[in-house]
Amino acid sequence: MAITLERDGDCAVVIIDNPPVNAASHAVRQGLMDAVTTCDADPAISAVILRCAGRTFVAGADIRELGQPPKEPHLPDVVSAIETADTPWIAAIHGTALGGGLELAMACRARVADANAKLGLPEVNLGLIPGAGGTVRLPRLVDAETALTMVAGGKPVGAAEAHRAGLVEGVDEGDLLTAAKELARSMTGEEPRTLGRPIRQPADADAFAAQKAKTIAKARGQHSINAAVEAVARALELPADEALGAERDAFLALKASEQSAALRHIFMAERATLSDPRCKGTPRPFDTAGVVGGGTMGAGIAAACLLAGLTVILIERDGQAAQAAHERVSSILDQSARRGIIDETTRADIGNRFSTHDDHGPLSQADLVIEAIFEEMDVKKAVFARLNAATRPDAILATNTSYLDVDAIASTVADPSRVIGLHFFSPAHIMKLLEIVVPASVADDVVATAAAFAKRLRKTAVLSGVCDGFIANRIMSAYRREADYLIEDGALPADVDRAMRDFGFPIGVFEMQDLAGLDIAWAMRKRRAKTRDPNERYVAIADGLCEQGRFGRKTGAGWYRYEDGKPVADPDVTALIEAERARKGIAPVSLTDEAIMDRILSAMQSEAQAVLDEGIASKPGDIDVVMTSGYGFPSWRGGPMFMKAQQDT
Ligand code: NAI
Repeated sequence: MAITLERDGDCAVVIIDNPPVNAASHAVRQGLMDAVTTCDADPAISAVILRCAGRTFVAGADIRELGQPPKEPHLPDVVSAIETADTPWIAAIHGTALGGGLELAMACRARVADANAKLGLPEVNLGLIPGAGGTVRLPRLVDAETALTMVAGGKPVGAAEAHRAGLVEGVDEGDLLTAAKELARSMTGEEPRTLGRPIRQPADADAFAAQKAKTIAKARGQHSINAAVEAVARALELPADEALGAERDAFLALKASEQSAALRHIFMAERATLSDPRCKGTPRPFDTAGVVGGGTMGAGIAAACLLAGLTVILIERDGQAAQAAHERVSSILDQSARRGIIDETTRADIGNRFSTHDDHGPLSQADLVIEAIFEEMDVKKAVFARLNAATRPDAILATNTSYLDVDAIASTVADPSRVIGLHFFSPAHIMKLLEIVVPASVADDVVATAAAFAKRLRKTAVLSGVCDGFIANRIMSAYRREADYLIEDGALPADVDRAMRDFGFPIGVFEMQDLAGLDIAWAMRKRRAKTRDPNERYVAIADGLCEQGRFGRKTGAGWYRYEDGKPVADPDVTALIEAERARKGIAPVSLTDEAIMDRILSAMQSEAQAVLDEGIASKPGDIDVVMTSGYGFPSWRGGPMFMKAQQDT
């Protein structure tokens, strides 16, 4: 039974029970319609409290129903029935009220939220806008600026912020139902329905126009964001019924769009990455993480673990390096406190859970150790040999290597079944993606622990087999190689970067190299020079840049020159490219942006297919998740494999 109705004095309590997230599926909608009729027909009921069983309020529409023909009653009709009911409805919100859930709540006469609740309209992330009046009711409860941020940004707000903004009438720290009943009894019956409330127009029209322009600029081709901005603008200008009609039309058009199909694919793929049965096993307990190496990655990993509530023991080479690592981690945590991610108490508590050392002794306390030292096999092997002796025999040993053979690293430990790869992306405390690299000898419960660890850190984790670069860096190396071919063939770095940005990447491949630094890849190419196939096409332009000391932004120049921190095309780089073409006897051809992107995408897709065929990735969706959350592939295009499947049909 999706809906039950209980009586509590003169209040009716309508409870939605549709596990796991109380989605507004057909049975829920029908049940709510019936509840409106029942309650209105009973003169003894003076108020109706709408609440949910389980861990959350309605967390959205039923995403599976989005791909099917809609069944009556539609959500807008249910929302409207609640709003126009004779008996006032009050929403009692715990967990998350998202999308259709918040639309139901906004149709109620008043709302009370648990202190930990979150409220939002995340439809843009699925390529949609709210379709049941969300864009029209929200600016009648909160100011226009907040409405625009919530509808077009898709991020939920916490209960306290929702209260400040006017979205909920009360926040409750105790028993939510009691609070809802109190709110019901305090109501006079004169409270206006939401659509009857006046619109809260922007305080400053120019600032609001600028906010709209900025939001659209950030959309980078994602139609739903533009549609969200337009919907809020319409809600501010048009009578409610017209705005509602236009919102529904826009919602239905977006629902049928390729972009929404792509974003829904990514949404589902992100939730399906850890479907491997080993990920569902019982994890080993982990509370204390060791981190070896506190450079760029080690510091970010340590901070991520601390922010997730773990105790962290960080080991560096010597006292000075340990001190520097301590400062690096502290500065990340201070930043998190400044940005409001953690409060002062948590910041202080984290200090007690974090220590740095220059010897391996304290690692005997660790349940899990993550190595993030220099990318050199011999150095890594030496450290793993030391970890073998310094750690408990059941402690998990992980490497953050970007490219090296995790099987070979595991072989240096007496019990290789406790070794796994945990490949973070930079900055590790911010980037959502984590590749769990699974060596042949790993124990099943070590995989389960890695999956649980990823969840604890709120990362989107993907399992990868062992190969040079795993899923992400192997595919990235392939399209970077293609980008090198493109510049030898006739394009300039700025042409490739522009084509990628226009496609929807936040940054082009050459700008990205300048940002990350060219020296590390140069060192790797020099190491591999001896084993390189002499017949392989090799582009030496990046080597030429490095020989001139052009290592990217950090040296003021790389593929670009930098003026006021902005990349500018550099005639010296063009001259170097032209000289290299002449040396190889390549006659440059002119390449359109479309031709450039076709080649980049094909390179990506053929390497991705190889990764899949070799079993490095277990399903196409995992590759799409890696590329969208690791390397900026536009989610609204669904990822390279999603595009390939569309191209093939
Ligand atoms: P980094 O050079 O910033 O940091 C390495 C740190 O390890 C240094 O602080 C160094 O003092 C310390 N270290 C070296 N040998 C040590 C030892 N025996 N014991 C304790 N500490 C030692 O390097 P980064 O960029 O943090 O990379 C570390 C690892 O993470 C590498 O394997 C790299 O391939 C991988 N990685 C790097 C990414 C990046 O974007 N930088 C992304 C993902 C992985």
